[in-house]
Amino acid sequence: MEPQPASQSASVLVRWMGIGDANSAGFVHGGVVMKLCDDAAGIAAIRHCRGRVVTAAMDRMTFIEPVSVGELLTCSASVNAAWRTSMEVGVRVDAENPRTGERRHTSTAYLTMVAVDESGSPTPVPPLLTEGDTERRREREAELRRQNRLAEREQILADRSADG
Ligand SMILES: CC(C)(COP(=O)(O)OP(=O)(O)OC[C@H]1O[C@@H](n2cnc3c(N)ncnc32)[C@H](O)[C@@H]1OP(=O)(O)O)[C@@H](O)C(=O)NCCC(=O)NCCS
Repeated sequence: MEPQPASQSASVLVRWMGIGDANSAGFVHGGVVMKLCDDAAGIAAIRHCRGRVVTAAMDRMTFIEPVSVGELLTCSASVNAAWRTSMEVGVRVDAENPRTGERRHTSTAYLTMVAVDESGSPTPVPPLLTEGDTERRREREAELRRQNRLAEREQILADRSADG
């Protein structure tokens, strides 16, 4: 399969936050932000492999600052790394007050998306072509997160079997 540049699949999703997106405290519900991150990550992953994908895991989601109703949310997603059938997609969320133009970074998420065939079985994805220092750093960091995830899984399985 032809390697695909990370820039080719980078995706941006913008949505205006309304009353229906609020929680009882009057800020935007965290689940609304998570869904938008999942949508943006899905678009980037589909653009990378040009096929069906499923979300295998939301590996990390930070909420740095609350988002208010009336603000514009921009979710910028890029494929950070591609392995055999899975990809890590990083999503940066910025909130903007459309009247003042003030913009702040409010969340970051990392999701693992897996390409699947028509029967839902994992299927190979093209390698990722990284260009420039930022894309190469993102790929290295995605690899570290994957190694940590796999190491954690091994440790838990070892602990369970030691427990009998
Ligand atoms: C994701 C899914 C296809 C993986 O199927 P599987 O039979 O476990 O497949 P495999 O063990 O062959 O793993 C396939 C890839 O997924 C990755 N993967 C599987 N489970 C994972 C997890 N929990 N976290 C991160 N990556 C995972 C594997 O590392 C592997 O990646 P690689 O091929 O790049 O090395 C399957 O679990 C699934 O369909 N889950 C439901 C997805 C879904 O419906 N999402 C929406 C939720 S509403």
